[in-house]
Amino acid sequence: MALVSATEMIKKAHEGHYAICAFNINNLEWTKSILTACEKAKAPVILEVSEGANKYMCGFKTVANMVKNIVEFLGITVPVALHLDHGTYEGAKAAIEAGYTSVMFDGSHYPFEENLQKSKEIIALAHSKGISVECEVGGIGGSEDGVTSAGEQADPNECKIIAELGVDFLAAGIGNIHGIYPANWKGLNLDLLKTIQEATNGKPLVLHGGTGIPYDMVRSAIERGVSKVNINTDLQLVFAAAEREYFEAGKDLDKAGKGFDPRKVLKPGCQAIEAKVEELLKAFGSYGKAA
Ligand code: 13P
Repeated sequence: MALVSATEMIKKAHEGHYAICAFNINNLEWTKSILTACEKAKAPVILEVSEGANKYMCGFKTVANMVKNIVEFLGITVPVALHLDHGTYEGAKAAIEAGYTSVMFDGSHYPFEENLQKSKEIIALAHSKGISVECEVGGIGGSEDGVTSAGEQADPNECKIIAELGVDFLAAGIGNIHGIYPANWKGLNLDLLKTIQEATNGKPLVLHGGTGIPYDMVRSAIERGVSKVNINTDLQLVFAAAEREYFEAGKDLDKAGKGFDPRKVLKPGCQAIEAKVEELLKAFGSYGKAA
């Protein structure tokens, strides 16, 4: 199946009160593992790529071609969108050009007027090509690709203005942060989320920093309009734990002296990713939705 824009799957999720999982990919193995798990689960999925991961994987075109070819090679039948995560203004344009089917333009660090103007331009460009767009209001805390921002609480009025530009889904800071939550974290501001959902007239909302939030709290957010949950760190953690166990047990040492075979060595990590993806698809409700 060809890659699709995320608009339709997110719209269905919003109507059906579940969320599409958006998993960050960093290489071929993760892409393959996530797609394999989603196909098995009959779950629509968003594969997302940060600008740093794009660079690591040799650019937007390489990533777009790799994902398209893996989808075709594995015979994936569930809807798959390829999405730029936290795109810059230039990055969003480059991703659109290279064949991404969805982009996030993160202008949350600009003064609001500038965020508004740039969001408007990216939305018009993406929509002219049938590509979905996510914009952000109120920075998401934590650090990603070396960019750190404090957890913010989005202004519902600013959310309303950006929503009215015709953005397909909106990321709004509600106390969520990327990476590991500190022990004294106060939780998601679900009241603010409800206010934002009302102010945006039911625009599908995005929850960044999906790792480490209790599943019940995520489900409460889904009930209040979240239709896309971003997950990155969780997959890194399970991959690293499985690989650590494998190496510590000395299983990578090839007794027959045939050398280091990445197909064997990376297998435990990939299997751990598949299991975690299945768990998250079940937890946030998209499991079986593409059956
Ligand atoms: P986590 O790394 O906390 O799961 O967040 C991922 C994310 O929000 C990507 O944009």
